[in-house]
Amino acid sequence: MGQEEVRALVEAAKAASQAAYAPYSRFRVGAAALDEHGRVHVGCNVENASYGLSVCAERNAVFAMVAAGGRRLVAMAVYTPTQEVTTPCGACRQVMMEFGKGARVVCACDSTDVMDLDTKDLLPFAFVLD
Ligand code: THU
Repeated sequence: MGQEEVRALVEAAKAASQAAYAPYSRFRVGAAALDEHGRVHVGCNVENASYGLSVCAERNAVFAMVAAGGRRLVAMAVYTPTQEVTTPCGACRQVMMEFGKGARVVCACDSTDVMDLDTKDLLPFAFVLD
């Protein structure tokens, strides 16, 4: 993946964060998933008054990818409007692993802080069936 492609993916995640529905935490997250066809699918966190039903931006982006026919997660960008990056929660790591074993994950924020790794770094010894 070229630098320009990574930059565009981060921009898509940033734009998606604008749509976050986070009235309880006020923590807005955007994610963008690049599939095997070169298509980008975005997600934001969507919270609920029954807090436990809230869904993270990363999972919503992966599910949007699957609903659009994508089956392989090539890369994921995660953006939060913070000074330090946010890394995906455990549940999202497992979901990302299902479709992207070794997918690139770029976490970006409003400072130069960035994390660029892959799903196997985020979730070592993952439970997978194949
Ligand atoms: N959240 C995400 O969307 N992605 C993450 O990587 C961490 C947490 C959301 C869930 C909840 O809506 C809010 O951020 C605070 O936890």
